[in-house]
Amino acid sequence: METIIEVKDLSKSYMSGNQKLQVLKDIDLTVRRGEFISLMGPSGSGKSTFLNILGTMDAPDSGGIRIAGREVTHMTESRLAVFRLKHIGFVFQFHYLLPEFTIEENVAMPLMIAGARKAEALKKSREMLDYLGIAGRAHHYPAEISGGEKQRTVVGRALINSPDILLADEPTGNLDKATSARVLELFKKIQKDMDQTFFLVTHDEHIAGIAEINYYLDNGKLIKKK
Ligand SMILES: Nc1ncnc2c1ncn2[C@@H]1O[C@H](COP(=O)(O)OP(=O)(O)OP(=O)(O)O)[C@@H](O)[C@H]1O
Ligand SMILES: [Mg+2]
Repeated sequence: METIIEVKDLSKSYMSGNQKLQVLKDIDLTVRRGEFISLMGPSGSGKSTFLNILGTMDAPDSGGIRIAGREVTHMTESRLAVFRLKHIGFVFQFHYLLPEFTIEENVAMPLMIAGARKAEALKKSREMLDYLGIAGRAHHYPAEISGGEKQRTVVGRALINSPDILLADEPTGNLDKATSARVLELFKKIQKDMDQTFFLVTHDEHIAGIAEINYYLDNGKLIKKK
């Protein structure tokens, strides 16, 4: 199977006052296309830090990261912005939809930023909304739809450029049990239909149970549980 992410000897620390806080220590990780991976660990163990580094939003102190065959640690910020747009989809706990744009426009946005014509982007967006089961909300604004519908919209926006990996930080963190089960079912369906690779940070045992591979962060070390 094709390797999507290759992390070698990655370390990350933060300075708090004059104390050095070593968050991630010599981490190695290989992710292959189509894998569904969860990452758990206590609060403050470095899960979001690691996810942000995988997403090239933050840089490690040392170590290498190859995503889709490209070493990203030395890329300039402007190249990274383009790289992220093409290769990485993000889903966070709190939805960052643009309030002044419709659902359809929000999902089309990454395509337009990547250079697609508006009509073409909106057509693809509508197909995605249809796939996600929220086509009926296409012309609504984010403030007019439910939390679960917002999360579906965020998923659509993350997937519209066919990223090599979808990274999610507690994607069901503020959804009720039934809604988060539905979002999870949707993720599994997307994995199957699109051979989509997922890397999910979660506190939810249910998600970890559904993932095929589980990691745990403990004292800066990445431990494979399953
Ligand atoms: N920018 C920063 N500057 C200094 N310390 C930071 C910074 N970001 C995170 N930290 C610290 O690094 C550690 C790891 O934080 P991180 O957000 O990655 O944890 P987490 O595992 O995602 O926790 P949670 O489950 O609560 O979201 C924490 O002790 C945090 O306080
Ligand atoms: Mg976190």
